[in-house]
Amino acid sequence: MVGNAPGKTILLGEHSVVFGKPAVALAIDRYMTCTVSRGPAFSLNGYRVKKSKHPHFARIMEIHGVENLNVDTNSTVPPSSGLGSSAALSASFSAALRLLLEKEASARDIALDSFDAEYSSQGRASPIDTSTSAQGGAVALNCPEGLGEYLWTIEKGDLKWDVSSVPTPELTLVVGNTGIRAATGPLVQKVRKFKEKTRFASDIIDEMGQLAEQGIQTMSKNDLVGLGKCMTQNHKLLSILGVSCPELNKLVKATLPYSYGAKLTGSGGGGSMVALTDRPDAVCEAILRRGGEPFVVTAGVAGASARVL
Ligand code: MEV
Repeated sequence: MVGNAPGKTILLGEHSVVFGKPAVALAIDRYMTCTVSRGPAFSLNGYRVKKSKHPHFARIMEIHGVENLNVDTNSTVPPSSGLGSSAALSASFSAALRLLLEKEASARDIALDSFDAEYSSQGRASPIDTSTSAQGGAVALNCPEGLGEYLWTIEKGDLKWDVSSVPTPELTLVVGNTGIRAATGPLVQKVRKFKEKTRFASDIIDEMGQLAEQGIQTMSKNDLVGLGKCMTQNHKLLSILGVSCPELNKLVKATLPYSYGAKLTGSGGGGSMVALTDRPDAVCEAILRRGGEPFVVTAGVAGASARVL
């Protein structure tokens, strides 16, 4: 069985969404594929390995009571780059495993498996990446009333996220990868500690939530100028929160003259930024000049699926 799932770019609300604030993301045309078959032990890409070293697979196999599998992965999502590679890994694996086990494999089922895996391996997470990879299109969490189509709710402790699909706006996005790999877990923990220690960080997180809500409204009107302003402001707040880095700031600054707005996307600390633009060539050139790797993405692609090989 082979599962396939897209990466994502977050337009607004990363980090604040971990605390239950609104956020919006788009599935992008970068994919993870996961081929699974029954085997005598757990093997990954042809090697027998310890499952405990691969917590996403381990958790999803535990959920389904499976001990041994051959798993082969293939990816066009750059790893640890803010583009949802680990969510796409979980979603493609869940889709393939569910098909192998002849179980239901709705987007919701896949999103729940994947969130569980992401949460247990990261220590804390929101369902933005995993729900977007499972569902595809444009996905909003805790979306303002009337702007999205309700899909499902995910709860963890005292936090609750209503997941909705929102219409994919007509827009052009350019991603700029700094090439610096940054793991999500430590950045999420850093923000949590900052929030626990200071009122200031809580206020910034509240402001990011309001901005995401405002941005989802501009998106529903296809108001690219308004959406771009929200994105650039979101980047400033993420920088204040300490999750940007000089390389990301450099790429954001270089692309702003040719964009409606730009910001880091994902957990930050390296990884990628995204620019909303109608001048993709100029944006790509600006990213290249500053040492980043640019690519234009197709946003709003279909979510996770699986088929028999
Ligand atoms: C990572 O792509 C997005 C974060 O908000 C973490 C999460 O939501 O799980 C930083």
